[in-house]
Amino acid sequence: MIKVIGIVGSPRVGGNTEIIINEALKAAKEEGAETELIRLSDKEIKPCDACLSCRKTGECRIKDDFQEIFDKMTRADGIILASPVYFGSATPQIMALIHRAGYVSGAKGRIFENKVGGPIVVARRAGQNFTFAQMLFFFLHQGMIVPGSTYWNIAFGREKGDVLKDDEGLATARNFARKMVWLIKKIKSF
Ligand SMILES: Cc1cc2nc3c(=O)[nH]c(=O)nc-3n(C[C@H](O)[C@H](O)[C@H](O)COP(=O)(O)O)c2cc1C
Repeated sequence: MIKVIGIVGSPRVGGNTEIIINEALKAAKEEGAETELIRLSDKEIKPCDACLSCRKTGECRIKDDFQEIFDKMTRADGIILASPVYFGSATPQIMALIHRAGYVSGAKGRIFENKVGGPIVVARRAGQNFTFAQMLFFFLHQGMIVPGSTYWNIAFGREKGDVLKDDEGLATARNFARKMVWLIKKIKSF
């Protein structure tokens, strides 16, 4: 079974980021994947404190919800990270996960190599491309494979639910997820 997880970096439950990633996960499910939504708003992920003990032990020493999410990332074939834009940037929640997951995966011997992943971004008006790149840097750094779509995976919306008016944004997220599952099937068939 193909497993795709979608991690929502917004603190707002049921907001635009969650809506669009759910559209993507629905499309992945239609292609045959098992899917799971993970909200960072329900979790505590402290920032990396640069203790670097993961380099010696292969584990993060900070005790919070990181380990549970990292384990899910480890088991997934496809990982979608989604963030709203906050002051032109990804949220601290998603960046804390990226920093710690990136270092721990390195300490464990680059365990995300050849997994498939990609970002989705929502904003009211500006900063989508930069935030998209912030998350893309994680996937590419980790040796992951990022499928394309019919546009870049960005959308517009301010109040909860506004993103539902952005038909092209939603379609781009769905097409990205379809391509993600298509690619995972190809990779797994060899
Ligand atoms: C603290 C904060 C900073 C924001 N900064 C930006 C920004 O730089 N650019 C922008 O277009 N929208 C910005 N927004 C608007 C959000 O990106 C937008 O409302 C988005 O839909 C929120 O997603 P959510 O519903 O998943 O939380 C900001 C919102 C907040 C709360």
